[in-house]
Amino acid sequence: MNVFVIGSGGREHALCWALSKSPKVNKIFIAPGNAGTASIAENVDIDIGNIPALVRFVKNNDCVLTIPGSEAILMDGIVDAFLEEGLRIFGPTKKAAEIEGSKTFAKNLMRQHGIPTANYGVFDRVEDAEKYITDLEDIQLVIKADGLAAGKGVIVCSTQEEALEAVKRCMEKNEFGKAGERVIIEERMYGEEVSILALTDGKTIAPLSSAQDHKPIFDNDKGPNTGGMGAYSPAPVLTEKLLNETIEKILVPTVHAMNREGRRYKGILYAGLMITKAGPKVVEFNCRFGDPEIQPIAMRLETDIFDLMNSVIDTKLCDMEIKWKEEAAVSVVMASKGYPGTYEKGKVISGLDEASELEGVEIFHAGTDKSAGNIITNGGRVLNVTALGSDIPTAIKNAYHAVDCISFEGAQFRKDIGQKALTRLS
Ligand code: AMP
Ligand code: GLY
Repeated sequence: MNVFVIGSGGREHALCWALSKSPKVNKIFIAPGNAGTASIAENVDIDIGNIPALVRFVKNNDCVLTIPGSEAILMDGIVDAFLEEGLRIFGPTKKAAEIEGSKTFAKNLMRQHGIPTANYGVFDRVEDAEKYITDLEDIQLVIKADGLAAGKGVIVCSTQEEALEAVKRCMEKNEFGKAGERVIIEERMYGEEVSILALTDGKTIAPLSSAQDHKPIFDNDKGPNTGGMGAYSPAPVLTEKLLNETIEKILVPTVHAMNREGRRYKGILYAGLMITKAGPKVVEFNCRFGDPEIQPIAMRLETDIFDLMNSVIDTKLCDMEIKWKEEAAVSVVMASKGYPGTYEKGKVISGLDEASELEGVEIFHAGTDKSAGNIITNGGRVLNVTALGSDIPTAIKNAYHAVDCISFEGAQFRKDIGQKALTRLS
């Protein structure tokens, strides 16, 4: 059977890779894909913002399953358009995807249904936001642009001055464009973060194994936030007890709340959690697979991902059992010099063959392209060097061994991916 993946990042390469393991999948198409996906899928050149063109492609190529990678395309309503055409697609409808697309919607939903998250206010006027900040005096705050801002519209503040300045950046300087016209001001939470990606068909909720992202660009969580510089799975911070608490107090009530709102949720519900002293609290919800979380998660998944996705579409997730490899997995992102700011493209990447021949190693490409027989850099995050290992320390060693084989001019990567797990395990 043919399947169609939409996107060009490490997440989409990992999804293609996992789908390629299914005996039921003959051919994978991906639009637009990258140099890495080209080795296991057919990259197709379609404008992924053109939903009618995507519909036509799927019909002409008999694709029995479509998997959109990013929140942007889900928010565009691709699932609604495909369902209207009777096509099978994995992911939430536009109304359900608002759980990520509108932070106000997500926060109000949590408040109404008693789902643990930081206290907050929502503001459309600068003066009101400023008054809220000055009234709260000693409480540290986080300022967020309401709409989608490619993971960048969040400013964590330590002082009142910083919070006031952050509001100006959103609402007066328009640093985040339209997304910042409305801001959410949240109390700052403290604790270790962890991602839990759950499959749900609106009836059954099946959490995937936990993972931890590393958002800031530099070691020890220094520097500006990125899309994610690495991840590992499982994350020991989420003990069985905390996972059960997350299911009971966060995932189940959220899926029920979405049903009650007439926004039945199908697909991946990704809860970004902070493990606070008072237990797990929601930092944010995402409506799709985490990038780079899915890279290590996919490597540990034993159950056929094609079957899992179909069971969600058919509301038969309750019939599935998800099996995991005992091993841990670690993914290290290699990024272009200058990322997450401006960076150059077109640097020749060497050592990929040597690295991918190492046992238990997969190199998931993100921003790569082919040129004159070479693989070259073509984005900020370039590669996700991912490795299995008998435990987290071994997986870390294996991943960095593979990273050491690879080079391109200006390559930067964090050297401490998985360090929090090591601290916790020791
Ligand atoms: P978000 O895009 O909402 O996930 O926020 C990006 C990052 O900002 C999160 O991963 C956290 O590290 C941080 N953050 C967001 N909200 C809070 C909060 N209320 N307290 C502390 N840190 C936060
Ligand atoms: N890993 C963060 C995200 O996918 O949003």
